[in-house]
Amino acid sequence: MVATCDAGMEKVLEAELQRLGAQVIALPPRAIVFRGDRDLLWRANLWLRTANRVLLTIQRGKAETRAALYDVASSIPWEDILTANESIAVDSRVSENPAFRRAEFVSQVVKDAICDRLRQETGRRPDVNRRYPDVPVSVHVHGSRITILLDSSGERLGRRGYRAVAGTAPLRETIAAGLLLNAGYDGSTPFLDPFCGSGTIAIEAALIARHVAPGLLRLRRQGAKPMTYGGDGAAILEPVGFAFERWLDHDAAAFAKAVAFCRMEAREAMHPIVGSDSDGSVLRIAGENAQLAYVDDAVTWSRGDALEIGPDAPGTIVVTNPPYGERLGDRTSVLALYKRFGDQMKQRYAGSVVWVLVGDASDAGVFGLKPSRKLAFMNGDIDCRALRFELYEGTRRKREGADLFTVDVPSDLLAPVVLADEEH
Ligand SMILES: C[S@@+](CC[C@H](N)C(=O)[O-])C[C@H]1O[C@@H](n2cnc3c(N)ncnc32)[C@H](O)[C@@H]1O
Repeated sequence: MVATCDAGMEKVLEAELQRLGAQVIALPPRAIVFRGDRDLLWRANLWLRTANRVLLTIQRGKAETRAALYDVASSIPWEDILTANESIAVDSRVSENPAFRRAEFVSQVVKDAICDRLRQETGRRPDVNRRYPDVPVSVHVHGSRITILLDSSGERLGRRGYRAVAGTAPLRETIAAGLLLNAGYDGSTPFLDPFCGSGTIAIEAALIARHVAPGLLRLRRQGAKPMTYGGDGAAILEPVGFAFERWLDHDAAAFAKAVAFCRMEAREAMHPIVGSDSDGSVLRIAGENAQLAYVDDAVTWSRGDALEIGPDAPGTIVVTNPPYGERLGDRTSVLALYKRFGDQMKQRYAGSVVWVLVGDASDAGVFGLKPSRKLAFMNGDIDCRALRFELYEGTRRKREGADLFTVDVPSDLLAPVVLADEEH
């Protein structure tokens, strides 16, 4: 099987898979290849917080011509996987194959093979539905090696279905969860996001703290009406269930048991989870999203200026996404905000570990604190860094004598800071 993820989240996803008992085989970019049984396929879809999709390899072969590719695809007993009542879509990735330079060509050939085989075996051919296929199929071509996989997830797993309306510059759910897991957050400490926007990080923190399998959210919505999603107001369907539930050999009774086990794992959040923002309108959206994620009782939303507030207790884990220059606010004011937030951390965050997301690696020095770790990742098409600041307790008193936060704030605020232990 292959679990895919966003660039930078591979290590976190690998750890998640290992916790589920997967035997990890390889770590290509943006994916983890692993071995496991049907139960693991289900649990991966239900539990993985950082994966985009879980794919199941069903055929491997070699092909350098259209006819050979068609033969590899039509050797699969598609009539055992789906009926002609299910719609399909084929998505292909091609690398280093001069015969199949265009991925669309590969998709077309494999789609024809599926349709022809089903017509031969059942008398009917399935429809193609590119946006909402019942049975999405994936093809990877690398040189002459062909791998055909079933996408067991369907809609991207990060589309948990709790975003009623997207706020300004929301973070992907999978990335928010990945940053929390990377920070070691497990619900055993208080959590604060002082720039919470529409609340994605705090909601993902609540799902972790309450030990809710994120996949349960899309199952709860089964049979629900399509709802409006996204800033453009376009009505699109919420994710409904998983693609594997539509495979012919799906054992619905056994899956219902696996889901029931998942539900039994949920527990109460033991420590405060706080999302704070200076903009009241995004907090209303955050509240609605938390309700849709069934965690509204676990998160407290509060209106406040991040330059004035701080954690209520030592030991708080903070993961936060202040405005990036590219999308919200302009560069100069963003850098001034980072500088002042750095001062605020020194004043008010003693005893906490703070992970701050920046859209530009060279901004690390602006906070006036030395990051102890960095994680590089992609948020959509933005190349981001998460910077870890550990604020030691008692440091403020000592600072009166010698400044333990002695990091030269570069006179040029944009001067890059080179870290020895950059993770990626
Ligand atoms: C990039 S957005 C956060 C997005 C959020 N992670 C999400 O998923 O929706 C940055 C947020 O910082 C807030 N903000 C900007 N300056 C602030 C300040 N001084 N204090 C508190 N919040 C502030 C903005 O209102 C905005 O909601």
